[in-house]
Amino acid sequence: MAVEKRPHLGDATRGRILYGGDYNPEQWPEETWPEDVRLMRAAGVNSVTLGVFSWAKLEPRPGERDFGWLDRLMDLMHDNGIGVVLATPTSSPPPWMGHLHPDTLPVTEDGRTEYWGGRQHFSHSSATYRRYAAAITEDLAARYGGHPALTMWHINNEYCTYDWSDEAAARFRTWLQDRYGSLDALNSAWGTAFWSQGYGDWAEVHTPRNAHYMKNPSQVLDFKRFTSDMLLECYLAERDIVRLATPHTPVTSNFMPLWVGQDAWRWAEEEDVVSVDLYPDPRDPLGAQQGALVQDMTRSQARGPWMLMEQAAGPVNWRGVNHPKPHGLNRLWSLQAVARGADAVCYFQWRQSRQGAEKFHSGMVSHAGEEGRTYQEIKRLGAELAAISGQVTGRHTAHDVAVLHDWHAWWAGAQDGRLSNQVDYPDVLKAWHRALWEAHLTTDFAHPEHDLTAYKVVVVPQLYALTDAAIDNLLAYVRQGGTLVSGFLTGVADEDDRVRPGGMDTRLRELFGIRTLHEWWPLDAGEYADCDTFRGTLWSEEIDKTEDAAAEASYKGGELDGLPAVLRRGRAWYLSTLPEPGALRELLAGIATGAGARPVLDGLPDQVEAVRRGDLLFLLHHGREPVTVPVPGTHHDLLTGTAVTDRLTLDRYGVAVLRT
Ligand code: GLA
Repeated sequence: MAVEKRPHLGDATRGRILYGGDYNPEQWPEETWPEDVRLMRAAGVNSVTLGVFSWAKLEPRPGERDFGWLDRLMDLMHDNGIGVVLATPTSSPPPWMGHLHPDTLPVTEDGRTEYWGGRQHFSHSSATYRRYAAAITEDLAARYGGHPALTMWHINNEYCTYDWSDEAAARFRTWLQDRYGSLDALNSAWGTAFWSQGYGDWAEVHTPRNAHYMKNPSQVLDFKRFTSDMLLECYLAERDIVRLATPHTPVTSNFMPLWVGQDAWRWAEEEDVVSVDLYPDPRDPLGAQQGALVQDMTRSQARGPWMLMEQAAGPVNWRGVNHPKPHGLNRLWSLQAVARGADAVCYFQWRQSRQGAEKFHSGMVSHAGEEGRTYQEIKRLGAELAAISGQVTGRHTAHDVAVLHDWHAWWAGAQDGRLSNQVDYPDVLKAWHRALWEAHLTTDFAHPEHDLTAYKVVVVPQLYALTDAAIDNLLAYVRQGGTLVSGFLTGVADEDDRVRPGGMDTRLRELFGIRTLHEWWPLDAGEYADCDTFRGTLWSEEIDKTEDAAAEASYKGGELDGLPAVLRRGRAWYLSTLPEPGALRELLAGIATGAGARPVLDGLPDQVEAVRRGDLLFLLHHGREPVTVPVPGTHHDLLTGTAVTDRLTLDRYGVAVLRT
């Protein structure tokens, strides 16, 4: 049987790093366009995303089409050697749609309709919305599928809507029928014997709307799964339309970073190009690490090069206080993305708007225009990316350490009625990634059911719910020689959110050497669990260990005095608390070294990040004072074109890209 070969990011990059961003020329008089193109060319822009929010312009009245302006733009881009990532405009339906068809509007948990006037006001379950979305997608594919400027399709934008409407409820029922087959199975999975919730007829089953007291957690969990699946259905419907018209053009839909509403592992399987929008706060001391986390996760979802679809050249406008990027930071964070596997560095948006909700959000060309610092820095970066492009694109590097992450475990664990609302899943994930990042260990991310055998170390910050298949996978990984390090609240529940006997899966307890898990002892904000070698935060546990397990650290004082805090049995480690950042870093670095995983480079100053991509070594300095970095041997710095021997100095926000 012939294996279908899907298009990929390389079909769009053709050996160059894509550089550009969302271009919304419909917001400007046409006389501005030639000026835009002049500035784009001067900055090395080779890719623009058109049409993301153009539905009302393309379809001013139901069924009417106005493609003239887009025809002229596509030609203009092509004439100037700029490729087009063409978006379907389906994330922001025109006002006529909600007006004529209120069934296309989403309904909130408390039964309120979300109106037009903002964006993303569509019901994923609405048959009417889906019909209009398919029609405009078909016409775009037919009209531009053969246009030489087209390099990629961009479906919708940041899929993220929830819907509790009656139409969504009807669709939820059929989704549940597919999942469970019978009401008996549903009642069992949802544990409806509790609080008299037993269902006797499918018509009684609804989306989990506002209720008097805590909702059924398994129903809420399934609603999250359903929402991700419905949005995926919307994506797939449009993807299949463009795929039919242009089988050789890659398709993407941009993720939000670590967004709770989409199972991005599942989605990534359906994308030719995995892309993400990334906006760390320039003032956040951990902004670079949080960027690295999203980049590592996106590369892992892509299993290769990925696309930075959006970032900000300066401030965003959706935080309480929105800070600009100091001189050099945009370059540094862009090259960080390239180091961690990006083959496309793009922005929201090309030219800063003068009207609308985002007029104070930066663009590549700010209100200050061509002379402004933002554009000048964009121009310099464009030249640098062009210079290193040929040595970077298409390169993928595997790493020794994997961090496990799963949306279903997140959803199941983040419910009302748990023991501590201080335990925030993304914060725990970030804390573990930070420890590894600060130890200069580059990490991949993986799903708990993925093949893990290539990794020397696998860490599980927290996977509250695990399937039997995932548990089998973890056990097999350790049996085959892998080193596993797990945090607390892992393996507590099955995929229906049913607590496993003993409060944690029996086989996992055996693996880590936990005889009995007597009680969980969550900690208040600012409270610590003293241990003999560090202080624990967030959580602690009353555990008896088995004889063949070793207590690598123990609680000191208080109710848990003398009980194990960190347990080890062979190559399996269990942390029943979250050590403070420095202690977690030391612990994980020590375990990684013991398992043969080496940091990228030894002796690195604290604020310097080192990443290998192919045969290149990226050095990224996140501090403001110059530092000297030991780099034994002789290298060639692609950015300066000079030779580097044994050490190099990086100035404020400095970057070097070394070939050895
Ligand atoms: C998202 C959207 C863009 C824009 C930016 C602003 O990423 O996709 O349209 O609103 O946020 O930061």
